[in-house]
Amino acid sequence: MCGERFNPMARKAKIMTSRRMVLKIGGAAALVTILGCGAYLHGGGLGKALAPWSEAGTSFGDKRLDALAFAILAPNPHNRQPWRFTLSGDDKIIITCDLEKRLPATDPFDRQIIIGFGCLLELLEMAAAHMGVATKTVLFPEGQGEAHLDNRPIAEVVFLEAKKPMDNPLFDLVLERRTNRHVFEDKPIAADILAQLLQDQNIPENIHLGGTVAPENVASLIALARQGWQIEYETEATRRESIRLMRIGNRAVNENPDGISLGGIAMGAMGASGVLTPKALDRPGSFAFKASLNAYFRLIESARGFVFVTSKDNARTSQIEAGRAWLRLNLRAQDLGIGVQPLSQILQEFPQMAEPFEAVHTMFAPQGGVVQMLGRIGYGPKQDPSPRWPLRAKLYKA
Ligand SMILES: Cc1cc2nc3c(=O)[nH]c(=O)nc-3n(C[C@H](O)[C@H](O)[C@H](O)COP(=O)(O)O)c2cc1C
Repeated sequence: MCGERFNPMARKAKIMTSRRMVLKIGGAAALVTILGCGAYLHGGGLGKALAPWSEAGTSFGDKRLDALAFAILAPNPHNRQPWRFTLSGDDKIIITCDLEKRLPATDPFDRQIIIGFGCLLELLEMAAAHMGVATKTVLFPEGQGEAHLDNRPIAEVVFLEAKKPMDNPLFDLVLERRTNRHVFEDKPIAADILAQLLQDQNIPENIHLGGTVAPENVASLIALARQGWQIEYETEATRRESIRLMRIGNRAVNENPDGISLGGIAMGAMGASGVLTPKALDRPGSFAFKASLNAYFRLIESARGFVFVTSKDNARTSQIEAGRAWLRLNLRAQDLGIGVQPLSQILQEFPQMAEPFEAVHTMFAPQGGVVQMLGRIGYGPKQDPSPRWPLRAKLYKA
């Protein structure tokens, strides 16, 4: 009302409306593409949010910090980076969970959050070994919460005296490791490449790593993953949890370098013009809502294979092991030039997801185990790194 009467505002509104129309018409396909593969395609302007990727490898004056600078680059659900580090004495790191960073709607039992900690611990130990430091990790030294995490430590890691630096070819790939959110090419993955991807000497007895590139299996999993995504996005609580964590435009990402970062100039413009806003994304039937749904469908449909990690039980320690296995798999994929992206929807434990959850467990864990991770694989364009909080933001005083 005020804008209509006040001339300059009305003009601005008009310009915005026509810009919005252009973006809507010309940008419809673009939005689907950007939301899908470009969600993490930031281009320039994200120096601050991406700085931790270049800080790893520099010296912080304490080997624990040097190793942590790599560890914080671990994959983790919704990029929440839920870790808190307390340096204790001269040689110990106490790792706890920032309980505010959990994902209660999509991860009601903190299972995925713990898997992320498994990825972090694996990277931390790899980095220490690379520096010639042996580590001793004790998981849940004060016991573990039952259904939910609490303030007790997830792990204590002691840095022991120096030994000979250990060569680990996987460690060389840490700074290149990505979750790939591009549409994959129409190019099959050979069975022997899949076998290499799944080859892991460090898999413990209670964890199994599997995968498939068989067209009939891939087609079934695509259908299930589609169903799962539709359920997650059409369920208010789970959709809102993700929307709340969206950072739209470079400024938002730099200010809050976690969650689902939709950085880049195009994203910023769509946010500013009102096409891509939390409100629009949350309105079933809206352009943004449909674009978001379709963008992820496109990613799912381009899967050329699937990989999964199962565990015999659902103990917290098994979830940690699953995370460790996922991190190594992600690094091997990087080495083989294969893109990998977790598709976790159908593994999520909220009631609406029960049907595809059962189906994927019947497929991969018929003896009663738990499918801890599921991801699509394929060949695709290189992925930009995702944002991170700087290490100092994660350090707490003893
Ligand atoms: C337990 C777990 C579940 C995840 N689930 C998904 C998922 O469903 N979809 C997705 O695109 N990425 C998923 N990811 C990947 C994270 O979003 C990703 O690691 C994070 O955004 C950081 O990006 P990066 O791995 O490229 O560093 C998952 C990661 C973990 C550890």
